[in-house]
Amino acid sequence: MCGIVGYAGGGGAREVLLRGLKSLEYRGYDSAGLALCGDRLHLLKDAGRVADLEVRIEHMTEAGTGIGHTRWATHGVPSQINAHPHTDCTRKVAVIHNGIIENFMELKSELMKGGHKFKSDTDTEVIPHMIEEELNKQQGMMDAFRKVVNKLEGSYAILAIIEGKNEIYFARKHSPLVIGLGRGENFLASDVIAFLPHTRCAVFVKDGDIGWVNSEKIYVEADGNKVERPFTNIEWSAEDAMKGGYPHFMLKEIYEQPDAVANTLLDARIEQLATELGHLKELEIVAAGTSYHAGLAFMYASDLKTRLLVSSEFRALYKGGDVLAISQSGETADTLQAVRQVRAVNGGKVFGLVNVNGSTLTRLADQTVYTHAGPEIGVAATKTFTSQLAVLYGIDAELKGKKIPTFDIESALRLNGEMKKLSIDMSRRQGIFYIGRGPSSVTAREGALKMKELAYIQAEAYEGGELKHGPLALIEEGVPVVAVCPNDIHRKKMIGSIEEVKARGGVPVVFGEAGDKELKAISDRFYGLPATDPFYSPLTYVVPLQLLAYHTAVLLGWDPDKPRNLAKSVTVE
Ligand code: G6P
Repeated sequence: MCGIVGYAGGGGAREVLLRGLKSLEYRGYDSAGLALCGDRLHLLKDAGRVADLEVRIEHMTEAGTGIGHTRWATHGVPSQINAHPHTDCTRKVAVIHNGIIENFMELKSELMKGGHKFKSDTDTEVIPHMIEEELNKQQGMMDAFRKVVNKLEGSYAILAIIEGKNEIYFARKHSPLVIGLGRGENFLASDVIAFLPHTRCAVFVKDGDIGWVNSEKIYVEADGNKVERPFTNIEWSAEDAMKGGYPHFMLKEIYEQPDAVANTLLDARIEQLATELGHLKELEIVAAGTSYHAGLAFMYASDLKTRLLVSSEFRALYKGGDVLAISQSGETADTLQAVRQVRAVNGGKVFGLVNVNGSTLTRLADQTVYTHAGPEIGVAATKTFTSQLAVLYGIDAELKGKKIPTFDIESALRLNGEMKKLSIDMSRRQGIFYIGRGPSSVTAREGALKMKELAYIQAEAYEGGELKHGPLALIEEGVPVVAVCPNDIHRKKMIGSIEEVKARGGVPVVFGEAGDKELKAISDRFYGLPATDPFYSPLTYVVPLQLLAYHTAVLLGWDPDKPRNLAKSVTVE
């Protein structure tokens, strides 16, 4: 998803913006660019990686103020022309934007009638032209900017600069934007990670806020009136966001799971949320991607009457009731839209389960409980998934009056070497099936999702019982079937499913409880995991499947941190 960064300081904007853009790469992008503010504007942008800009940036003039952008294409193909920043006809105003301007067609045809020449296919380009139009009416930049923003429909985090002024103008609606406060320098970014090396003092910009920053001051207004927004001290250090000696963020994050889960379980808000949920008759859960799998795992564990809806389908299926929204980023547009829908129909209370403090979901929810997984840079969720499970299982244990469980993730991590070996075999396969029953059907889904998003191998997950209703037709000599088979009430039936696979020449790859002789006997690819509470098994059983997907991707030469076509935080619907 697009990442934006702005810097207003005494000098060194080039370097700060470049570093900021690099730290935002994890959001997923296809082009990058920046604009520096001097006596005139200096622009550099292109399709491709930030690293490609680095070589060329040295030829740019140094400046104190500038804006930078990583683009994830929505309107217009990834290209040099469509990359941000965009400028007006006079090239005096430069704009970067994250989100979608829904009424851009009307605005564009109006501007074209007035003689404005458009260079790109983007929705964003209307903004600098509109600013130019307003500036022609003899008013200051802030007045012009405000008028333009008020005409925009859709979602946006916008930064604008104008030649000769060391100020950055900003506006936000439904797209993340945060100000970083430094000494003699201020920052704007879609994610605190972009300015963490410089400051930990942040001000989260609210929906509807418009304002400007320069090196000394920040100004924020809402509904035309000046407002003060509170400061937040960000606990994450810049080091937290770095690789810490691992070859990839994803591997580091897989190995951080014991700590992430333990930290998360320490949060007292789990108890409070459990008390709240205990009073409910029914609960709707809404989430996307891996967070959806966390919701599904909760359904299998919980005695509560729950219903799970995928965020993008929520609007079509929601019939009212209290909602638990699960989102690592707290910025997934589909999930936020679902929550807004609950508000619009006065449907019920909204509980949030979120990793990123200060994110939009935390502000929309009536009550939020956090995972304490720290920043997750790898696009594919790993430690945030197991931390979500920790919260949900913690809630379940509270409600059932059970002891809060402990999870032996370390033992699961010891399978790393074996998963690396197994990845050699997997990397040669065209397709892989994943099966499980009960809670393990969730583990199978998450394992398959990881394999397809990272290694680009077709990986399909089915409930063990569903094999005979279709997928069995595809099982033939040599097709690998990953079977998740912990020691629970489904084990016997899973053994039946594994036999069905073998009878057709399929190759079962079995994950079960260490020492399970029967499983060991039916497959020469058996991997043992520690004993777990049968309802909570996904939290440990998913770990080797994450490792398997990781090693397979690396072996095939793919970058597991930045899978193609995917984004960490999907901020468009
Ligand atoms: C994207 C990411 C996934 C993530 C999903 C939901 O697709 O690539 O890893 O699970 O969004 O994100 P959220 O932040 O709402 O959990």
